[in-house]
Amino acid sequence: MTESLSYGRQQVDDDDIKAVTEVLRGDWLTTGPAVGAFEAALEDLTGAAHVVAVANGTAALHLAALALDIGLGDLGLSPPLTFLASANCLAMAGADVRFADVDPATWCLSVEEVDRYCRTSGPPAVVVAVDFAGVPADLPALFDLSRKHGFRLIEDAAHAVGSTYQFEGKTVACGSGAHSDLAVFSFHPVKNITSAEGGAVLTNDPELAERIRRLATHGLVRDPRKLRRYEGPWSSEMVELGYNYRLSDVHCALGLSQLRRLDAFKARRAELVRRYNQAFADHADVLAPPPWPAGCDPCFHLYVLSLTGPLADRRLDLFMHLQDRQIMPQVHYRPVHTQPYYVDRHGADPEDCPVSLDVYARTLSMPLFPAMSDADADRVIAAVRSFVKAEKRRW
Ligand SMILES: Cc1ncc(COP(=O)(O)O)c(C=O)c1O
Repeated sequence: MTESLSYGRQQVDDDDIKAVTEVLRGDWLTTGPAVGAFEAALEDLTGAAHVVAVANGTAALHLAALALDIGLGDLGLSPPLTFLASANCLAMAGADVRFADVDPATWCLSVEEVDRYCRTSGPPAVVVAVDFAGVPADLPALFDLSRKHGFRLIEDAAHAVGSTYQFEGKTVACGSGAHSDLAVFSFHPVKNITSAEGGAVLTNDPELAERIRRLATHGLVRDPRKLRRYEGPWSSEMVELGYNYRLSDVHCALGLSQLRRLDAFKARRAELVRRYNQAFADHADVLAPPPWPAGCDPCFHLYVLSLTGPLADRRLDLFMHLQDRQIMPQVHYRPVHTQPYYVDRHGADPEDCPVSLDVYARTLSMPLFPAMSDADADRVIAAVRSFVKAEKRRW
């Protein structure tokens, strides 16, 4: 029977299993030494001064918005071409959400659109920039803009663990916080590394890091020197409304073990992207590869193929053609501003943001994950080609 190929999946090996079982046999299941070790390894990877491992990427975004004091009466800006959580974190914190379109050259938040928004409507309190498919948003330009207009910047690097970009001759890691107030990662199983569920908040600001830690643990302060009333060694005080957003030692052991293979995962993803690009170049009149701007080295999270020309409105047919062959593509993403919640509750106009609408209408994500063999990729390529050939015969 032909094996089903999904658009993304984890690769768990014996080292990962050993790392997790060691924790299970030990004294700590929740907050133990693996949490600190995972956080330190993420600091090494990115250069961020502070990393807080949390329950998932959505919790990381929620905490980022709360730590920046985003709340009722504030306005937050998100790109529409992203997973719901990039915008939801703003709404969860109490803000009104608005959307700025993406750049057609990168599919990441458009610097011009954010600037235009600030000049015409006034600056929002916060902007979320997403490194779409692992390609870094133009973070240096957005960070400049944030200082010029006075908004805070969150980098949603859920797709971009392992991605880097160049800035003033230096390599900068996505998630480093070099060009944001706070950055977040996700370690969901389809992401670049996994801890099953998991996420992280990264920053260079010690006060923000301390606030994130507090908010992730019920808003509790434990440091005896900071308590209003010290009654004994058990004392802790809740100073603000927080959550249980901690990540367990079990999850962190898996994440840490996976992180050791990030370079190999990244290299394999790049090989598969090259293989797809070469193959689809044969049909450059109707198939366009994902944009890959110069000056960055993405850890490709998604391979988003665009249908162009006469194929532009045949996405559903290609989807069904692949599904019939046990290949399960995915669509990234229905633009968030078209979701009923944002139309009904935040006044979003589903006709806005034409670039995001256009990308959504004619793209399909092909399977891309490190455990894929060349033969798996060739199966996808053959299926896409057979679809294109059949279509071309009809013209
Ligand atoms: C861009 C983006 N941001 C945030 C998230 C949320 O991450 P998680 O699933 O770990 O909550 C995702 C996950 O799919 C994502 O793709």
